[in-house]
Amino acid sequence: MRGLLNLFANASIFVLVAAAASQWPVHNDGYTGAVQWDHYSLSVNGRRTFVWSGEFHYWRIPVPEVWRDLLEKIKAAGFNTVSVYSHWAFHAPNNFTIDFETGARNIAKIFELATEIGLFVTLRGGPYVNAETTAGGFALWTTTGAYGGLRDNDPRYTAAWTPFTTRLNQIAAKYQVTEGGTILLQQIENEICCQRNKDGSLNTPLVEYMVALENNTRENDVIVPIITNAPNMNSKSWSTDYLPGPGEQDLYGVDSYPACWSCNLAECGQKEISFNVVNYHDHFDQVSPTQPSFIPEFQGGSYNPWGGPQGGCPANLGPEFVNVFYRHLAAERITMASLYMLYGGTNWGGFATNLVGTSYDYSAPIQESRQIADKYYETKILGFFFRAAQDLTMTDRVGYSTSYTTDPTVGVTELRNPETHAAFYVARHDISASQNITDFKVNVATSVGNLTIPQFSAPVRLSGRQSKVLVTDFRFGDRSLVYSTAEVLSHSVVDGKSVLALWLPAGESGELMIKGGSAKREVVSGTGGSFHQVGENLVVSYTQQTTQSVLQFDDFRVLLLSRAIAYRFWAPTLTNDPIVSPEQVVFATGPYLVRSLTLSDVTARVTGDLDGDTVLEVFAPAKVTRLEWNGKLVATHKTSYGSLKATLGKPGFNAAALQKSLTLSQWKYADALPERYAAYDDSKWVVADHMSTPNPSKPQTLPVLYADDYGFHTGVQIFRGRFNGSASAATLNVQGGTAFGWSAWLNGDYIGSFPGSASAASGSLTLSFANATLVSSGENVLTVVMDHSGHDQRADALLPRGILGASLVSTENTTFSKWTLAGNAGGESNIDPVRGVIAEGGLHAERLGWHLPGFDDTEWVTRSPSDGVENATIGFFRTTSHINLPRGYDASLELVLTAPAGSLLRAQLYVNGYQYGKFVPQIGHQIAFPVPPGILNVRGQNVVGLNLWSQTAAGAKVDVKWNVLGVYESAWDPGFDAGYLQPGWSEERLQFA
Ligand code: GAL
Repeated sequence: MRGLLNLFANASIFVLVAAAASQWPVHNDGYTGAVQWDHYSLSVNGRRTFVWSGEFHYWRIPVPEVWRDLLEKIKAAGFNTVSVYSHWAFHAPNNFTIDFETGARNIAKIFELATEIGLFVTLRGGPYVNAETTAGGFALWTTTGAYGGLRDNDPRYTAAWTPFTTRLNQIAAKYQVTEGGTILLQQIENEICCQRNKDGSLNTPLVEYMVALENNTRENDVIVPIITNAPNMNSKSWSTDYLPGPGEQDLYGVDSYPACWSCNLAECGQKEISFNVVNYHDHFDQVSPTQPSFIPEFQGGSYNPWGGPQGGCPANLGPEFVNVFYRHLAAERITMASLYMLYGGTNWGGFATNLVGTSYDYSAPIQESRQIADKYYETKILGFFFRAAQDLTMTDRVGYSTSYTTDPTVGVTELRNPETHAAFYVARHDISASQNITDFKVNVATSVGNLTIPQFSAPVRLSGRQSKVLVTDFRFGDRSLVYSTAEVLSHSVVDGKSVLALWLPAGESGELMIKGGSAKREVVSGTGGSFHQVGENLVVSYTQQTTQSVLQFDDFRVLLLSRAIAYRFWAPTLTNDPIVSPEQVVFATGPYLVRSLTLSDVTARVTGDLDGDTVLEVFAPAKVTRLEWNGKLVATHKTSYGSLKATLGKPGFNAAALQKSLTLSQWKYADALPERYAAYDDSKWVVADHMSTPNPSKPQTLPVLYADDYGFHTGVQIFRGRFNGSASAATLNVQGGTAFGWSAWLNGDYIGSFPGSASAASGSLTLSFANATLVSSGENVLTVVMDHSGHDQRADALLPRGILGASLVSTENTTFSKWTLAGNAGGESNIDPVRGVIAEGGLHAERLGWHLPGFDDTEWVTRSPSDGVENATIGFFRTTSHINLPRGYDASLELVLTAPAGSLLRAQLYVNGYQYGKFVPQIGHQIAFPVPPGILNVRGQNVVGLNLWSQTAAGAKVDVKWNVLGVYESAWDPGFDAGYLQPGWSEERLQFA
C-alpha cells in the first residue's frame, strides 16, 4: 500500500486513473438521454448524481395530507430520492376495479408532492412487492389458485395484473423527469430469482413474465430506466452485463440487510446482532461493471415480527449502525442506495402479512409516530455530506488496507476521483463490530504530496462503532481543502462566498489544510484552534467544543460543529431541484426540524418544528435583516459575524398539557357475537358449497371452507356448520397464518379456542361437546371464529385461509349438513372505497359498521373495556374522545392497550372507522398503537372502538389509554379536514348481519 501511495505523489498515476475512466462511457439503453449512467453514477440531464434515497409506503399511511409532512422530513434530511412500493391489492379490490383516485389511492399526489418538495421518485410498482404486506401485495383475489402459481407467464396471471400495471404505468409516464415530473427510476417485480435454471438454461416462465412487465412499462410510455433488485449476491440475474439474456433490466442492484431484516435475529440464523460490514464491490465489478453500484434496499431498520421485542429493535440499528454502515456504502463505491425503510408506518386494517403485527415502524429513521430523533439526525448529517461531496459521484476504489493508518486495527478505503483527483478515505475499525476507542493517523496522497495526518492536532479518533470519511483535495467553490480530518457536513455559497460546515464529536480533534492559505484567519465566534502556515498552505488544528466555532478566512468561512449541533443543523434548499448546488443552500441551526427556507429581499422565511425553546441561527445573505418563523416575524439580531439569530418557542402548550386534556370514558357496550347462537339468522350469508377448489392445497373435508374461494380475503372470518343428530366432539383444522387464532361455540356454548402462537400457521383441535347443549331433534350450529392474520408472501400467498378440515366425532356418523360463512361486508364488492376491502374483516361489529363514525349506540349499555367481557365471547366497546390540539402544533399520539398477565384475548382497535391496532398479548409484542392525523381528528371528535374477543372462559379485560408521544410547534397543520377519509355509517350495513 505504501508503494501505491508513493506512486500517487507522482503525476503519472493520475494519467493512469483517468485512462481507466474513459473505458466506461456514459450510456443508456436507448430510451432517454435524460437519465444515463456509467460505471460511476447516474447522470440526470448530464449531471452526475449520488442517488440517496429512502423507502416510504403511502398505503401504510392512508392520509395524503400526512405525506407532505413525511416527504418534507425526508427532504430535510438531505435525501434526493424517495422510493415507493405500490400495492396492487390496495388499488384492485376485485378483478374489475382499478382505483388510483379515491383517498390515499391517489398515487399521483405523491408524485406532485415530490415534485414540489424536490425529491426524485423510484416507483416500485410490483405487481408483486413483498414488503411484509398481505400476500406480498398481490391483489387478494389472485390468492385462490384460479390465476395459477403467480409470478410467471401463466396467461391467467398475466390477464390479472395487466390492467393494474397498465394504469400505473400510464400515470407514472406523466410524472417522469423527462416530462417535468419527478419519477427517475422504475422497478418491475421485486427480488425475483432467477433468470436461469441451475443448468444455465433460461427460466422461461419467469423470463417471459419479466419481458411482459417490461413491455407493458415501455408500451405505456415509461422511458426512465427500469431497475431490478436482486435479493442477494447469489442469483446474478437480470443484469445486462452478466450473461445477458431476455428479461434483463437497465440497472441492476442488490438488496442488503447486513444486520438482519427482522428484530428476531433467528430469522437470519443469527444469535446476536451482526455488526460486520459486507464487501459488495467485487460483486458489482463482476455483475454490473458498466453501471453504478446500486443497493435498491439497504437496511434502514428491521421489521418486528409477531412475538418480537416490544417497541422493535432500535438499539440494534441506531446511530452507530447508521454511522458505520451507511459510510461503508460509500466506501464500497456505491452511488445509488435507498434505505428500507426510511419511514415504515402502520399495517392498519389487514395490510400485514402473518409475519408482522400492526406496527411497521421498522426502527427506521423516521418513527411510525412521525417523530424524528437521533437516528434520523445521524442519517441526516451523512445525507448532507453526500449532497456536498460532488466528487463522490465518480471515484475509483483504490483499495482497502489497515496500512493506511498508524494503528493496525483501523482500516481505510481510499476512493479517488479520476478527473479531479479528490479522494475520500473512509476509516473504520478493521473489525467493524469493535467497540474500542482508537486514536491514529492516516497516510494520504494529496495534491501537495504524501502526508500523514493530522500533523499538529491530536490524532483522529474512532470511538467504538464509528466511521469517518476524511477528504483530500475537497473542492468547495473556488477553493479546496488539501485534507480534513473533521468530517464535511455541508457547503453553502452565500453572497458569492462559501460557508463550509465541518463536524466532529465534541472533545475530538480535527485538522484541515486550506490550499493556497489565507491571509485572513480569524476566529469570529467560539474557541478556535491554532493556525500553522505550511508552505503556501494553511493548517488549522482544533479540538471540537460543545459549542459552535466560526472561522473567517479571506473569501470563505468554516463552521466547526459538534455532533449535537450538527444534529440540529439544517441545509434547506432554495430550489425544488433534487440535485442541489451549494448556491441553493442556506444553513440554519437550532430547531427540531427545518422544513423550508425562502428568501425574499430582506426577509428569510423559515418553516419547521420546535420541541422546545430554541435559538434559530440562519446564515443568510448580508442584506437579509428579517426572519420569519412559520409565517410570523420574529425578533432578530445580527451576530458580529453576520448571521441572524432569533429565540423561538412560546411557553404554554406541551405534551403534558395535551395528555391532561385527553379522556377515554363513557364507553358503550354491545354483545358482538350473536352468531354463536343457533337461532342467529345467517340466511343472507354465503353458503359454502364448493366441492372443489382451484387452490393447489386440497381440503381435508368438503365442502371447501377456504374463505378466499368465496371472496373474503382479510380479517376475521366466521364459519357456521350445521348438523342434525348426535356427536360428541368436532375436529377442526383451521389455518389463518402465524399468530392467528380461533374459537368455537356450539349452540351458543363455548367449546374451546386455539389461542395461537408466533409460529403456528394452522391449528387443529378436537373440541368436546361435553359442556355444550346439543339439540336432540333438530339443528345444531357450530360457530367458528377465525382471526386471519394475513396471507403469506411469495408462492405461499396461495396457502388457504379458513377451515382445512371439519368433521364430527359421532358414533352415528353424523356429518355437517351445511356451512355458511361471513367475511368483510360486501366481500370484494368494495362497499367502502375510501378505506377499501383490506380495511376490515367479518366481525359482527365490522359487518354492521359499529366501528364507523355516525353509528348510533345510544341504546347500548354503559360498560368499559376495563370491565371487559365475561366468559369466552366477543364484545364491542365504543366511545367518543375529543381532542383539541391548538393551532400551530403537531402532535404524535398513540393508544396504549394493556391486559392482565395471562390473558388470552384478541382485541382490535378502531379509530374513526379505521382498524389501527391488533392486540394479542399471548403472542406479543405490541401494546402501543400510534394513530396519525387524518385517521385521528386532532381538533375534533373521535370515535374509538374496541373489539374484544376472549379466548378463554375466564373472560378478558383491556385498559385503553391515550399516550402523547410528543407535541411540536409546527409549520405542518395536522388539523386539516379529514372528513373525506372518514365516511360514516349507513343503513346499507344492516344487510350484512
Ligand atoms: C426485502 C424485500 C422487501 C422487504 C424486506 C424485508 O427482501 O424486497 O419487500 O420484504 O426484504 O423487510
